[in-house]
Amino acid sequence: MCGIVGYVGSQSALDVVMAGLKRLEYRGYDSAGVAVLADGGLAAAKRAGKLVNLEKELVDRPLPSGSTGIGHTRWATHGGPTDANAHPHLDNAGRVAVVHNGIIENFALLRAELAERGHDLASETDTEVVSHLLAEEFSSCADLAEAMRLVCRRLEGAFTLVAVHADEPDVVVGARRNSPLVVGVGEGEAFLASDVAAFIAHTRSALELGQDQVVELRRDGVTVTGFDGSAAEVRSYHVDWDASAAEKGGYDYFMLKEIAEQPKAVADTLLGRIDVSGDLTLDEVRISASELREVDKVVIVACGTAFHAGLIAKYAIEHWTRIPCEVELASEFRYRDPILDARSLVIAISQSGETMDTLMALRHAREQGSKVLAICNTNGSTIPRESDAVLYTHAGPEVAVASTKAFLTQLVACYLVALYLGQVRGTKWGDEIRAVIRDLAEISGEVERVLETMEPVRALARSLADKNTVLFLGRHVGYPVALEGALKLKELAYMHAEGFAAGELKHGPIALIEDDLPVVVVVPSPRGRSVLHDKIVSNIQEIRARGARTIVIAEEGDEAVVPYADHLIRIPVTPTLLQPLVATVPLQVFACELATARGNEVDQPRNLAKSVTVE
Ligand code: F6R
Repeated sequence: MCGIVGYVGSQSALDVVMAGLKRLEYRGYDSAGVAVLADGGLAAAKRAGKLVNLEKELVDRPLPSGSTGIGHTRWATHGGPTDANAHPHLDNAGRVAVVHNGIIENFALLRAELAERGHDLASETDTEVVSHLLAEEFSSCADLAEAMRLVCRRLEGAFTLVAVHADEPDVVVGARRNSPLVVGVGEGEAFLASDVAAFIAHTRSALELGQDQVVELRRDGVTVTGFDGSAAEVRSYHVDWDASAAEKGGYDYFMLKEIAEQPKAVADTLLGRIDVSGDLTLDEVRISASELREVDKVVIVACGTAFHAGLIAKYAIEHWTRIPCEVELASEFRYRDPILDARSLVIAISQSGETMDTLMALRHAREQGSKVLAICNTNGSTIPRESDAVLYTHAGPEVAVASTKAFLTQLVACYLVALYLGQVRGTKWGDEIRAVIRDLAEISGEVERVLETMEPVRALARSLADKNTVLFLGRHVGYPVALEGALKLKELAYMHAEGFAAGELKHGPIALIEDDLPVVVVVPSPRGRSVLHDKIVSNIQEIRARGARTIVIAEEGDEAVVPYADHLIRIPVTPTLLQPLVATVPLQVFACELATARGNEVDQPRNLAKSVTVE
């Protein structure tokens, strides 16, 4: 939510900041704005709508050139997406400019106080109070970093703030509490951004900021302190992907590129985690084998697509370890007073590592004495930092708002955790676990094979562009896959889409079936759990008898479904529990193509933003 960039160095700040904002636009695209320090003053421009509107504004009314600047791309919280509400926000004298991500919960009170002291606030945002407060504090201390520390101590809520002041022309100051902000350190220049994508073209050397810290950027160095002024320790790290990873690379959309990258992302996530004897080596899971043997309950917390990965993980964990596993929406978790103790292992799944609901859930779990293992795709982000252990997925940067390759790698990580728990605890499924590890090692090739056969899925999607509703059915691990297929379609195609457990159909949802209604059915393998297979074949017949147009996703060689499939999508034979890795891919392609056919913005669906950093 909201992309932030700050720069100080010798390049044109406007060029650096605008290029950074382009890479961060996926975080919010309601409005955009920039401010640069030049000629002893401060110049700003902002526009409602996408970044392209700001680019036009800058052509019509160019800003003076300077080498210190900040920028923002917004996902609106307080106040609609208007020019006035766009960031940066300035004080009345036009000397301070501030950009902000998050929510300042006590802004109404602060605003009333400022109004009493004669400040004139022009926007509906919570952010504007910060520029006025900073101006007040700066007028007495003449030090922007100190002014920021003083202001932050008065703010409640979650925020990242980045500010410049015309009287400190070579300084950018940032602050963070519960909201992402990373520092990039170059030669004679420094960067601040919501994520490393904004500065990766300039430097791969980054610093992690902790909670409640203020950072002061100058050309020759970076100083980090706590909100109380104490010196702070920061961890530096090397960003292990380059600028091309965050570019479209010839694809029309990031989402298409990210779907295509899935075989590699899956293989990379497995890399180095299966040893030569076929055992798992998850050394980075810093929870000892003896502690893992003590675990008597697993609780998974996550949101959206990551939650669906968690639902699938439950089947794997319970099957291979016999440990009871609960999966909970992170946003609901702490509010129901969950029963947790030191023997509960909490797994927090998050691509961004910054999702506020998931962060709050893991903090709650740690307060109850539980160990937290994060499954995360973003090095240096808050969720892994605050967890006892982390298993990184290696999907590379995911830029499209709709999650695809991150989901597949989250599944791989969940399987690894489940298999590792089974391996460590020595269950009766030892042989099966070894066989599945072998299958997992081969699975990226199967994902590749699915991708090679997607043309008919695209054609089918295009033919359904004028439909209003699509239903998705599944059983066992196919049920969360159905939920994920429906979520992708909602967020991308803006269609009414719902996923159901196929067995639930007769308990109500079958009333929705009408003539020619497209219903996607994810069919379990006929091998192994063949009872479920046979039952879902009956479910397909039931809906078809009522007029549904059946779109059946079934294993190669499954002939039983053929008579009842209006459209048949084949997926490779996999072990039952691994089937989501191949069954989800056609659903991603289906949603992406339908969105395109309906003229929607694939990478930036309406009302959404990547990385939800507010509760
Ligand atoms: C859907 C999607 C979201 C995210 C959710 C959690 O395509 O991307 O539902 O999965 O917001 O985000 P992370 O994984 O960053 O915590």
